[in-house]
Amino acid sequence: MLNEMTHPIPLKAKMNLTNNKILITGGGTGIGKGLAQLFHQLGNSVIICGRRKDVLKQVENELPGVISYSCDLLSENERESLMKKLETEHPDLNVLINNAGIQNWMKPEDSDFFERAKMEIKINVEAPVHLTQLFLAYRKAKTVINVSSGLAFTQLSNVPVYCSTKAFLHSYTRSMRHLLKSGNMEVIEIIPPALNTDLGGIGLHDSAPAVSDFIEAVYQGLNAGKSEITWGFSEMMRNAGPVQLEEAFNRMNP
Ligand SMILES: NC(=O)c1ccc[n+]([C@@H]2O[C@H](COP(=O)([O-])OP(=O)(O)OC[C@H]3O[C@@H](n4cnc5c(N)ncnc54)[C@H](OP(=O)(O)O)[C@@H]3O)[C@@H](O)[C@H]2O)c1
Repeated sequence: MLNEMTHPIPLKAKMNLTNNKILITGGGTGIGKGLAQLFHQLGNSVIICGRRKDVLKQVENELPGVISYSCDLLSENERESLMKKLETEHPDLNVLINNAGIQNWMKPEDSDFFERAKMEIKINVEAPVHLTQLFLAYRKAKTVINVSSGLAFTQLSNVPVYCSTKAFLHSYTRSMRHLLKSGNMEVIEIIPPALNTDLGGIGLHDSAPAVSDFIEAVYQGLNAGKSEITWGFSEMMRNAGPVQLEEAFNRMNP
């Protein structure tokens, strides 16, 4: 994935990009898998988790040395037992990447709106906050990376709760970065635009750019020591003023 010619050894990354032990939630597919490939290639120990064991095993087979734990992040108990197990089996875990997420397409008149909203809030909001709190007790904890979205800044109203969860994650990440600075903890936000993954359902993101293109930008951003990594649409939305945000909203919600 990385071209040796265009990627010399990182020189000025704030986060050391090699020799970490990293947990990536949702590392079996999509952006999480792309991050697993990147960090594996850069010489880190990578642990991934998710619900589907077959998907996790496939990544273990493709990337020798990567290990996986199955865990449903919807469940508070499962989050706690995962982090307890990791603290015992991997006391050198020093990076947490909160990547797992779901995207529910729904309308207010749907009878299951509230049930699906609760699930989305638990996975996209409650789980990263909970995992971060458990991770901060680890002796070696050094870096937290949260994966939010360009939809933290403008809204695609077909995914109303999703956008709100990502706005939460953006806000929370900024505060945590500030609060943890004095303890020498680094808090980074990866802000993807729409990418070709199965998020929200198979086929919905087929026309979006490939994950590998974005991962290249993530590498460049981390290497440059950026604490917020944007690309394409998410870069435009992160830097947009009120007029541009309104225009984007009107374009996306005709
Ligand atoms: N693709 C995009 O357009 C886009 C844009 C902006 C931001 N993002 C964000 O990027 C992150 C990754 O999404 P993706 O696009 O790579 O989609 P994806 O391929 O569907 O990845 C989501 C991952 O989260 C895991 N996950 C979902 N629910 C879980 C649960 N209850 N417990 C444990 N793991 C769970 C899934 O694994 P299992 O199903 O096996 O559990 C899957 O590996 C998400 O936070 C998403 O919001 C994506």
